[in-house]
Amino acid sequence: MKKLIHPVTITIIVVIFIFSLPFLLPEKAPKNFSDEELRQAALTRDMAPVPTGYDALLKVVDNPENPMNREKIALGKELFFDPILSQDKTISCATCHNLQEGGDDNIPTAIGYQGQANPSHLNSPTVLNAALAKAQFWDGRAKNVEEQAGGPIQAPFEMHMTPTEVEERLNQDGAYVAKFKTLFPEKKVTFENVRKAIGAYERTLLTRGAYDRFLEGDNGAISAQAKRGMTLFITKGCKGCHTGMSVGGQSIQKFPLRKYFSDFIGMLFEPDLKIKESPFPFVNEGGFLGRDGTLKFRVPILRNITKTAPYFHNGSVEKLEEAVRIMSKYQIGNEFTPEQIDDVVAFLKTLEGKLVVY
Ligand code: HEC
Ligand code: HEC
Repeated sequence: MKKLIHPVTITIIVVIFIFSLPFLLPEKAPKNFSDEELRQAALTRDMAPVPTGYDALLKVVDNPENPMNREKIALGKELFFDPILSQDKTISCATCHNLQEGGDDNIPTAIGYQGQANPSHLNSPTVLNAALAKAQFWDGRAKNVEEQAGGPIQAPFEMHMTPTEVEERLNQDGAYVAKFKTLFPEKKVTFENVRKAIGAYERTLLTRGAYDRFLEGDNGAISAQAKRGMTLFITKGCKGCHTGMSVGGQSIQKFPLRKYFSDFIGMLFEPDLKIKESPFPFVNEGGFLGRDGTLKFRVPILRNITKTAPYFHNGSVEKLEEAVRIMSKYQIGNEFTPEQIDDVVAFLKTLEGKLVVY
């Protein structure tokens, strides 16, 4: 007698059914944490509040190769705001890193010496909390803030100075000479000491806000919506990359991590060549492809992210909601609904903070 359905066919149907189960079942609802569970979920995953006192600050940020002290910090602050470090004496670090405006310049790409734009159309990242990062710059090419500070001073499109020019200029200023003399073992102005003084100051540029108060035990510091967003941020994997005290800056990661066939099809009908040829889900303005052209980027710091639009390395995305949607789709492979995006943005708003006075 002929069998109605061959056993092999049945096996195939069963296997297909089992493998499609994850897609058929409704998505698992996000965890419903109590306030304390949410706090512990964060604290046990390297997320931490910014310290309040000077001694506590030193424990977190001091650099044994450039020990901090109050006088060195004050000198670094003076240099950070002094246009003397730029060729035509019009640009200081603060020109592109406005501490009152989120520590950046709020324009898509940085404008430096004689109105020149960054050749790779790079967006100025915030200097606030940057000292907490394990590497500096969009591609993480500098190891710390001291090393980083030498970059913009020498870049022809930023401050356009040579180390010798910096030393000559500061040596003409008696007040600066005296300070370098007392503060450094070399007892004089050197380019390296300029970098060190600025770095010591940058190590104090930490901010605290509602998020820190919540982590310290104040349940009322952030809204129910922000708590839902924080839960998504932790349980859906954003914190896997955006972690540490600075909520980012701890590693170099690939972006975009995922590719979609639907994007490929969509691109075929895309009239804008700049989008068509972009490896990113936005225009590849400037052509920067991350570390050694491998699409690897230093994970950005998310503290004060609501104040540092536009977004991504080339500043191509204006809205934070869109940046979050892109991240959810391309980095965690779980595109958020508009409600989830709003919740996460409400959480990101709690990362706004004020400079701590140390
Ligand atoms: C013309 C605008 C401009 C000036 C002036 C400028 N920067 Fe920047 N800064 C940028 C841009 C753009 C980047 C990103 C560049 C890159 O990744 O290659 C950056 C990156 C940084 C970073 C890295 C932050 C991070 O999270 O990776 C720090 C720290 C920083 N700048 C501090 C300074 C200091 C200190 C000075 C003064 C000595 C200074 N900047 C001068 C535009 C500027
Ligand atoms: C695999 C690592 C990784 C994961 C997971 C990840 N991100 Fe990112 N995120 C990055 C990298 C790398 C960039 C920088 C990309 C660029 O500028 O080209 C970035 C950029 C961002 C930015 C823009 C930052 C700026 O200064 O312009 C936001 C906002 C952001 N991520 C939020 C999130 C959220 C929310 C999640 C969870 C849905 C998430 N990220 C998950 C690595 C990650």
